[in-house]
Amino acid sequence: MQPILEVKNLSKKYNDKNVITDINMKIYKGDIYGFIGPNGAGKTTTIKTILGLLKSSSGEVLIEGVNSINNAKVISSKIGAMIDYPSFYQYLTGFKNLSLYANILNLDKKRIDEVLDMVNLSRDKNKKVGAYSMGMKQRLAVARAFLNNPEIVILDEPTNGLDPEGVIEMRKLIKDLAGLKRTTFMYCSHILNEVQNLCNRVAMISNGKIIFQNSINSLLDNGRESYDIITTDKNSIRKVLESKVLNIIETDEGICIEINSGDFKLINDLIVKSNIAILSISKKNYSLEDYFIKCSKKIL
Ligand SMILES: Nc1ncnc2c1ncn2[C@@H]1O[C@H](COP(=O)(O)OP(=O)(O)OP(=O)(O)O)[C@@H](O)[C@H]1O
Ligand SMILES: [Mg+2]
Repeated sequence: MQPILEVKNLSKKYNDKNVITDINMKIYKGDIYGFIGPNGAGKTTTIKTILGLLKSSSGEVLIEGVNSINNAKVISSKIGAMIDYPSFYQYLTGFKNLSLYANILNLDKKRIDEVLDMVNLSRDKNKKVGAYSMGMKQRLAVARAFLNNPEIVILDEPTNGLDPEGVIEMRKLIKDLAGLKRTTFMYCSHILNEVQNLCNRVAMISNGKIIFQNSINSLLDNGRESYDIITTDKNSIRKVLESKVLNIIETDEGICIEINSGDFKLINDLIVKSNIAILSISKKNYSLEDYFIKCSKKIL
């Protein structure tokens, strides 16, 4: 299958120093593609280079197979984006601000009301942007990203400044559009739990290089399971399980074990037979955050 957006060996230098190096990404139609990485890793630079807002030092950006690097016409017709802190004319209303973009893009005014409705800003569309809260400005920036009915939407930390209700609405909007209209999303965020719940695939960048790129399911399924066992007799339970598990660590209230997926019954039988008083056993779900921290430690 051909990716809708492919980035090939993309690099960008600032003052002769590589900020991103040989970035390769494949994003398929309908993907919600998470893009994560520590502060200063190169996420925004990658996005700006894809969008042609920064000139790449080398590499290609293919949209539906066509090299579109620095081809503003193709990029603006296919991609909508929200990057950095939203900038708007403060003395104009939300509606007027979007009208400026709609005029440039030759779009019907009806579309402005549609996107304002999508982000729940219809009621405030005639207020001056200077009187908007940070979250409202953020919503307006997201509305602007959807204005040209793009096939690909790139959102750089879109939930910054949104209240919990706004975060839930944003998640629903992305899921609905990806599901119903097969809109493709590239979603950049530091909230790893959000990325894990929302995205089907994810890439991590560190020091300007891609560290991993995979489906969330394959990252989280490493064939192992962890369990927290709470007991007042840590030493005894440790002795019983030590030779039967892959890894064992002491916690404040007991131990945490790592076993091969499917081995829980065997372990549980041993615990029952040992007659050691157990207060609780709970499965720990391996998260994207765990994976991120593991990779970050390897890099350091
Ligand atoms: N105009 C510039 N001139 C020189 N270096 C820059 C410039 N803009 C960004 N950089 C550097 O490029 C690197 C990557 O920055 P970038 O903004 O892409 O990171 P990021 O992953 O988006 O970080 P964050 O999570 O903080 O948003 C940083 O080291 C930054 O200092
Ligand atoms: Mg950034």
